[in-house]
Amino acid sequence: MASKVAKKNIVYQSSQISEYYGNNRQRWDDLYKSEKWVFERIAGEKESLGKILDVGCACGGLGKALGEKYSFQSYTGVDINSDAITFAKRNINFEQPVTLINDDILNINTQSEYDIVASLGCADWNIETEKIVAACWHGVNEGGHLVISLRLTDREGLNDIDRSYQYIQFFCNEEKPERANYVVFNIRDAFKLFKNLLPQPLLIGAYGYWGKPSETARTPYHDLVFAVFYLQKAPNIRNDDIRVELSLPISLLF
Ligand SMILES: C[S@@+](CC[C@H](N)C(=O)[O-])C[C@H]1O[C@@H](n2cnc3c(N)ncnc32)[C@H](O)[C@@H]1O
Repeated sequence: MASKVAKKNIVYQSSQISEYYGNNRQRWDDLYKSEKWVFERIAGEKESLGKILDVGCACGGLGKALGEKYSFQSYTGVDINSDAITFAKRNINFEQPVTLINDDILNINTQSEYDIVASLGCADWNIETEKIVAACWHGVNEGGHLVISLRLTDREGLNDIDRSYQYIQFFCNEEKPERANYVVFNIRDAFKLFKNLLPQPLLIGAYGYWGKPSETARTPYHDLVFAVFYLQKAPNIRNDDIRVELSLPISLLF
């Protein structure tokens, strides 16, 4: 990554987050093809997804979307934006236990107890992406999965909000819309990051495709691969034991 300077995560204040995510990405069919593919891949024949931690849950839409197709034991959502969590508390009405926390995932002492930890559009939407990935991985139990979306390039990656960012401006033209970091990973750097997690993953899989950056993004990249990774945790993995399953365009690699 280009920037190695440690910075603090942004505490997003914008009410546009709850306005947008309160009305979008609430149903299974609202999820991207890559997201559906990955959840179906890791669920296999199982009906229950177990305990879910949704990092950057916004209004809890992922819980509702997964609930249309699967059962689960509990749903925990964490979001740094207070409006989103307030909305989520009204939005979610599951029979299963629900916990909603308004905080930065980096401030939370997560136990390694979740069957699925999801970070969809979160780790690469803030500053401390690599720390967020590590915190999410820590929350995964043995046998469980991290599901994480990243933007990929075959060129050099970028984690520098002054050079690659997204306006949080889903509806109206505010005078000073808040900016989110728009982190892009070189494909090899993404694998290095995952391979070096502790404990090392048993499996690293990915499903993704080329697309254009969002219209609200200001970034030097014209084309990116939007990928969802799935990593499975198991004890005592040696480097050589890590398996990969890739469904990515070959032009990203060669
Ligand atoms: C692009 S939205 C994605 C929302 C949802 N995960 C989805 O895919 O529909 C990113 C969300 O992550 C939250 N977020 C960003 N950084 C965070 C952090 N460090 N800890 C917790 N939440 C964070 C934002 O407030 C926002 O609600």
